[in-house]
Amino acid sequence: MGQTEQQLKRHQYLEAMGIQTWQLRQSQPHPETGQEPVVEVGTQVVEADVGIPSPISLPDWATIEAEVKSCTRCELHQQRTQSVLGVGNHNADWMIIGEAPGADEDRQGEPFVGRAGKLLDQMLLAIGLKRQSVYITNIVKCRPPNNRDPKPVEAASCEGYLKQQIELIQPKIIFAVGRIAAHNLLKTDQRVGAMRGKRFEYADTDIPVIVSYHPAYLLRSPGEKRKAWDDLLLARRLMSENI
Ligand code: URA
Repeated sequence: MGQTEQQLKRHQYLEAMGIQTWQLRQSQPHPETGQEPVVEVGTQVVEADVGIPSPISLPDWATIEAEVKSCTRCELHQQRTQSVLGVGNHNADWMIIGEAPGADEDRQGEPFVGRAGKLLDQMLLAIGLKRQSVYITNIVKCRPPNNRDPKPVEAASCEGYLKQQIELIQPKIIFAVGRIAAHNLLKTDQRVGAMRGKRFEYADTDIPVIVSYHPAYLLRSPGEKRKAWDDLLLARRLMSENI
């Protein structure tokens, strides 16, 4: 696909996300090289206070799948239709982490398949990522009743599974969507707005974590979609520059 065609597609995806697009004069491809300029996003490097996680054993995917399927570690198992481990590429560079399955996910056994999931797909496509090429999961693997926030004890019960998923995938970047994902991954209680635009690291690894708004929030507050777009560009830049 040529560069102009790629740009056209990106514009279409951005439109689908509900973000108005325009062409900056300086963002035209270079007239001689045809190279597209890098989009600059302000960043600030900070150290997250994540503490030292406990060591984990490294099982294979079949073991985690079986354990999560029959998990009774917290009370969420009582009302679930099924647990929702995650979906996507086990060798993904990008790992997207949300909060918890909702009603659609509980029914279908796959994360982010409802309206918020459709928006997430559009957001990823806007930076050229197909859903199948990334790995998508949640902090907790079972649906909290009435879509309430997962309780700390529930997130803690599920934490080992998420650690194992991250350990197996070894993503190059984690994109944390929403407050629950950010707080549990980074062991902080900062606001999402305050965490955006910064590079954190997951636990005692050097895996970068970028925090953004949850797609469900973006559906309620479409005016914030442009900020989520900036967050995706930042994550993509960290990925491509390997920083
Ligand atoms: N919201 C989430 O955080 N995760 C899902 O899987 C669906 C909606």
